Amino acid sequence: MTSHRISAEADPVRPGADRPLTIVVDGEPVTGTAGQTLAGVLLGAGRREWRTTSGGGAPRGVFCGIGVCFDCLVEVNGLRDVRACLRRAQDGDVVVRQGPDRAGAQEADR
Ligand code: FES
Repeated sequence: MTSHRISAEADPVRPGADRPLTIVVDGEPVTGTAGQTLAGVLLGAGRREWRTTSGGGAPRGVFCGIGVCFDCLVEVNGLRDVRACLRRAQDGDVVVRQGPDRAGAQEADR
């Protein structure tokens, strides 16, 4: 068995063209594609961590990717503790990183 890539144009489960979107992360515009999660947009932009822990300030980003570990928490449009791996990005979302070294740090951080 060999693996191969299917081009986006030839992919039968992708009937339409990509729709770009832009979110704002800590004041910086970050572009992605409609349908991506916030974590997908962040990872696609080369960002690997966007939160730090309160116990030591260790960096966190995506760990499980399925909503179990809570490592990917961000503030979205003023709402804290949103799991970036589950929340689908919407054009214009305003994302703020969470952690003790950032505004709005929370005691519940690990
Ligand atoms: S990466 Fe584990 S909950 Fe989001």
